[in-house]
Order: sequence, then C-alpha cells, then structure tokens
Amino acid sequence: MDIVNINELIGNIELFVNKICGKIKKSDIKELRILKTKCFGKNGIITNFSKSLPQYNVSDRKKFGLQLNKAKKILEDAIVKRIEKSKSVYRDSEPHHEKLSYSKDFCFPFPKGSLHPIIQTIQDIIAIFKSLGFAVVDGPELETDWYNFEALNIPEDHPSRDVQDTFYLNENGIKKLLRTHTSPGQIHIMEKQLPPIKIIVPGRVYRNETSDASHSSIFYQIEGLEISENITFMDLKAVLVEFINRFFMSELNLRFRPSYFQFTEPSAEVDIQCNFCKGKGCKICKNLGWMEVLGCGMVHPNVLKSVNYDFQKYIGYAFGIGVERITMLKHNINDIRLFYENDLRFLKQF
Ligand code: DAH
Repeated sequence: MDIVNINELIGNIELFVNKICGKIKKSDIKELRILKTKCFGKNGIITNFSKSLPQYNVSDRKKFGLQLNKAKKILEDAIVKRIEKSKSVYRDSEPHHEKLSYSKDFCFPFPKGSLHPIIQTIQDIIAIFKSLGFAVVDGPELETDWYNFEALNIPEDHPSRDVQDTFYLNENGIKKLLRTHTSPGQIHIMEKQLPPIKIIVPGRVYRNETSDASHSSIFYQIEGLEISENITFMDLKAVLVEFINRFFMSELNLRFRPSYFQFTEPSAEVDIQCNFCKGKGCKICKNLGWMEVLGCGMVHPNVLKSVNYDFQKYIGYAFGIGVERITMLKHNINDIRLFYENDLRFLKQF
C-alpha cells in the first residue's frame, strides 16, 4: 500500500475515533457496552484494523501501528471517563440502572500493566527468529568452566575468565560459575544432538562489574547458532540483515566490521548507522557514525571439536545479541539502569 493510501486509512481511523468518542459521551451504560464491543469486540473496528496490520510494509506498519495505539488509548480513556461519571451518579444515589459489573464488562479501563521493555524485546526477537526457522532452547544459568569457557575455545589465561568479570560459586566442592554469556547454550545443544541445528538461546547472564550507564552486572543476551553441512557467511549475513530490518522496523544502513571472538573465525560485529546524526558523527555514537548491535561469526573448528563433531563435515555460524543494548538503540535510551529501577514513568512508555 502506498503512502497516500496509508494516510487515508489513518484519516479514517481519526474520523472513526472522533465519531465514537462523541457517542460514548452521550451514551447510557447499555449503549456503552455496545460501543465497546463495536470497537474492541471480536469483530470490532479496532480489532479488525489490528488484524490487517501484517499486510502492510514495514514503514506503513509503523505509522499505522502508532495511529492504532493512539486510537485505542483515546477510546479507552473516553470509556473510563464515562464509567467514572456513572460511578459518581451511582454514589449520589441516582438511578440504579446505571449499576455496572466492572470486572465483567469493562476490565480493560482499570490501570493496566504492560510487559517490561526487555521482555517485549525478547518476545519480538523470538518471534522474528522463529519465523526464520529457529527453535528456542533454554540453558542453565549456573555453569561450569567447561561450558562457559573451555569448550568455547576460551583459553585459561584469557581475561574474561578473570574473577573481576565472573561470579564464581562453590557447589558441594565443585567450582561453578554464573554464565557470563549465553554462548554455553551452543555447547549444550551440540552435545545433545547432531546437525542440522538452528536455535536461539535467550537468557540472563552475569558479570562481576560495577554498573554505570552502559554496564549492568545482570543483563540479557540471545545466542544464535546454525550448524549444517554447507553453511556460508552469506547465510549468516542474510539472517542478520533480515532480523535487524524487522526488529528496527526499517531498512537501516548496516555494516559487518571484522572483529575477534575466541569461538568464531572469522568474527564480525554488526553496526547500524547512527539514527541521530545519520552517520555524520555525534555525541551519542561517540563520533563514529555507527553503533554496534551484535557479535557474530563462523563457528571455530575447535568448538566443533570440543563437542566431537566432524569439523571437516559440519560448519555453521553463531551470533550473540545484547537485549538491553538493542532495546536502547531502538528506543533511544541512554542509560541501562533505567531498565532495573522500575520507575513507572519510564516503564509506562512501552
Ligand atoms: N558471547 C559474546 C559476548 O558475550 C557475544 C557473541 C559474540 C556471541 C559473537 C556469539 C558470537 O555467538 O559469534 O560478548
């Protein structure tokens, strides 16, 4: 659908909202119920608009989605206002036919919670990867040195093993640790089955570091892994480009920048062009014009060897997404601590 049509559609939503709001104000409770169903019922106008959302392209969907959310809010507010008025009527012992079953008929107008932005991001990411054929698997948060480091080709003297970064624990005399990333999920799945493997592992990770605007000792990551017989870097690129465009709901400029991770070779980091300065360089992107979104690469043969895979036969790619980071980039949030302070003024915006 082109821009003219989407604008027309948005105009129609506005007209509809104005008309219904006028009616809501004047309606009695019985009429109000009918109007509510007309808007939000199974075949309600707002419900049908929402159902048609997926058929539009990404930028139209964004516009349309925003307008729909606005319309929902206006209508819900109008209904709440109308109910409040009827409550005062009831309190003042005016006609009792105004009496309502609030929980049955109007559950939504009461203060409604919403999913935490981090959970929303995880759900969005899962939905995208599921549609690309990935299965979702879980991994333990309490790990051993083998899964978190050794099997991932991270040598014993590597700084990320340092007590500075890792929380170590002792479980019945056995040295354990809190996973510092979701990459151990790769090892668990490969130990259990032979390729083809195509999974993501969402989860919480822990690092022994002081929190500041961009660091937190607990945060979330999503690991990705595909192993098969003839996977190339192009497969990795195609999956990540598709994911990023869908997650950010627009076609962004991105680049794959060579990088280094022990468990992948070659390795890369994916950057998106800074949304604030459009690549010119500003304070937010530290004058780089680009912002890092995730790490990825082709699975290192040593990782395949550590799970006894035939590394001549099997090949694959892996990637790791920082959930807080990607949420911050999407919504222009500049301090990771906002996610954990539970200030409703912040949370209510999502
Ligand atoms: N495990 C890395 C980290 O915590 C993220 C990562 C980078 C995961 C590259 C990957 C990858 O699978 O290929 O920083």
